[in-house]
Amino acid sequence: MRTREFAQLGFKTSVFGMGCMRLPQAQTGETEKVDEIEAIKMIRYAIDHGVTYIDTAYDYHEGASEVIVGKALQEGYREKTKLATKLPLWHVKSYQDLERLLDEQLARLQVDYVDFYLLHALNAKWWQTVKELKVIRFLEEMLAVGKIKHLGFSFHDELPVFKEIIDAYQWDMCQIQLNILDENIQAGVEGLCYAGAKGIPVVIMEPLKGGKLGQNLPTDVLALWEQASEKRSPAEWAFRWLYNFPEVAVILSGVSTMEQLKDNIRIFAEAEPNVMSEEELNLVRKVKDLYKSKTKVFCTGCEYCLPCPQGVAIPRIFAYYNNVFIYNNRDQSASNYQKLVTKANDVSQCVECGACEQSCPQNIPIIEKLKEAHQEIS
Ligand SMILES: NC(=O)c1ccc[n+]([C@@H]2O[C@H](COP(=O)([O-])OP(=O)(O)OC[C@H]3O[C@@H](n4cnc5c(N)ncnc54)[C@H](OP(=O)(O)O)[C@@H]3O)[C@@H](O)[C@H]2O)c1
Repeated sequence: MRTREFAQLGFKTSVFGMGCMRLPQAQTGETEKVDEIEAIKMIRYAIDHGVTYIDTAYDYHEGASEVIVGKALQEGYREKTKLATKLPLWHVKSYQDLERLLDEQLARLQVDYVDFYLLHALNAKWWQTVKELKVIRFLEEMLAVGKIKHLGFSFHDELPVFKEIIDAYQWDMCQIQLNILDENIQAGVEGLCYAGAKGIPVVIMEPLKGGKLGQNLPTDVLALWEQASEKRSPAEWAFRWLYNFPEVAVILSGVSTMEQLKDNIRIFAEAEPNVMSEEELNLVRKVKDLYKSKTKVFCTGCEYCLPCPQGVAIPRIFAYYNNVFIYNNRDQSASNYQKLVTKANDVSQCVECGACEQSCPQNIPIIEKLKEAHQEIS
């Protein structure tokens, strides 16, 4: 397992970090829940094989993730890894809620402190809440009493908001969504380099776009990857493109099977920066262009268009529409869309008021594109 310096913090972490948002599931009766025994086995296997960064959050698996991570870190495992969890701002109504939540998280995790405490999923709205509720003052108090060792934030908004937040505080780290398809989306590569230039370590989330870049690939995308002179799996190419950036400190991947975990441990044994040849980078560009050519609506899922006064689930409808062409899954998209119809969140509810188009940062002609989507997947 390759490690990297965690910038100025004076320690190294494994380049592969275990994301605990997609732990293995087990069927119990009608419902699925986390397979706790397998999840603990996997977290410990990861640590035994050199993974020294574990990422969880208050809401993952409806609270079960922190509890399971806490159990996995017993019997000497806590001391072998850096532990990150996140403050869910949407559960905070007052200053008093902040310490109550952190204490609840420490109890779930069975620890006295976390190494990294992140403001979860910051965007312009939650950043405003951070300022109004004086959350940074609270976090500094928790640093002083030792319940938190380092401060950071995870991010889901546009680049200018990212730069504003980066410039507003001396962060110990930040976490952004990045993968070969999101090069120019949200913080993107420009945000990565912006943070990197300021010496802020960057942790990557959704490196496989939630798994879509690793499995069930369209046949033409697979054929492109096969043109590479060195044979690698699509997941390996996606990780390689990321670990090639020297600014990347840790790449988190959620693994839902032991097989995936072992595969990623193998892949990250090679995770050195600046290893991709021009030929390899060109191939990634071709793959990205192919995906793009199959994309009908360049919706980034920022949800600025929501809430729609009529309840139309705009970003989800665009995702289903795009998926027909990217992943060749018309049946799945149509079935997902049907569920929106049942809940009256489909395109037939649209009265063309245009409120969404005024707030879309991508300037998408939403009304027209919704009609196209409806025609395709209804
Ligand atoms: N702070 C935030 O706002 C935020 C948001 C999102 C994520 N996160 C964190 O970031 C972590 C990483 O994001 P992510 O889980 O979306 O990562 P990801 O790597 O993009 O997606 C993980 C999924 O990829 C598939 N996968 C993993 N390894 C594979 C391999 N070797 N070959 C083929 N497929 C593979 C699995 O899909 P299947 O399960 O379908 O098999 C797995 O569940 C999360 O677990 C979470 O800890 C944070």
